[in-house]
Amino acid sequence: MKADRTENVAAPRMGQTDGTADATLDSDVEARELGDALRAGAGAHDDDFDQFIPHEDRRVSADYWTPVRVATRAAQWLDYFGARSVVDVGSGVGKFCVAAALGSHCQFTGIEHRTRLVTASRALARTFDVEDRIDFVQSAMTDAIWPKADAYYLYNPFGENLCQFEYQLDREVELGIDRYKREIAAAERFIEHAPRGTFLLTYNGFGGRVPDSYEQVAIDRDQPYELRMWRKARQAGSGRVLRSG
Ligand SMILES: C[S@@+](CC[C@H](N)C(=O)[O-])C[C@H]1O[C@@H](n2cnc3c(N)ncnc32)[C@H](O)[C@@H]1O
Repeated sequence: MKADRTENVAAPRMGQTDGTADATLDSDVEARELGDALRAGAGAHDDDFDQFIPHEDRRVSADYWTPVRVATRAAQWLDYFGARSVVDVGSGVGKFCVAAALGSHCQFTGIEHRTRLVTASRALARTFDVEDRIDFVQSAMTDAIWPKADAYYLYNPFGENLCQFEYQLDREVELGIDRYKREIAAAERFIEHAPRGTFLLTYNGFGGRVPDSYEQVAIDRDQPYELRMWRKARQAGSGRVLRSG
């Protein structure tokens, strides 16, 4: 989490709704245009995308939800490397899954522990007509329930545990250093024991270590945070850590 506000300045702005009775129709048209632009890889402004997110979740977009152009880049990599299924670990309001679904041919599963966000993310997928390619599941991540997939996306999902109260999303879930340690340990165990060929995508890291059974296959430093893609190349590593944090 915690990304600087970003906009793809090269992308065209969509029209604005005018608050009249035609606003719903305008909004449908805008969603279709935006969806078409993302399918074509043309990019989009985060502000244009975020208007389809509930108002109370929009204000934290720059800190909590993946920027559109990061999701688009990840989508290009996923298709390029032949990944078919992707799990977003802590899917929030569904922004990554929806934007990356529009930019790729993959099937997505978003795991999110906050019920309110799962409801919002299902609505977002319907808005962009990609609900047949995304399954949002309300659940807390533990090593026992990480679904099988070709790729796992982590946008520093457990970082909120270390934030001060005013930077946390809400108090609906357990947060704190104890939970942080448990989640990181579970994520590291899962990553270490994942099958050979598994892809890992990290945006601003995930707080844990990537073992040297993985190799880095792509990196984009031209984003608010580094986006990295790893592939598990060997069943077991030497014990050396490629990257932590
Ligand atoms: C930084 S946001 C990223 C959201 C989304 N992946 C995106 O990129 O737009 C992290 C999300 O992970 C969720 N989360 C954190 N810990 C979780 C856990 N243990 N199980 C399920 N969801 C979790 C939070 O509620 C939050 O919505």
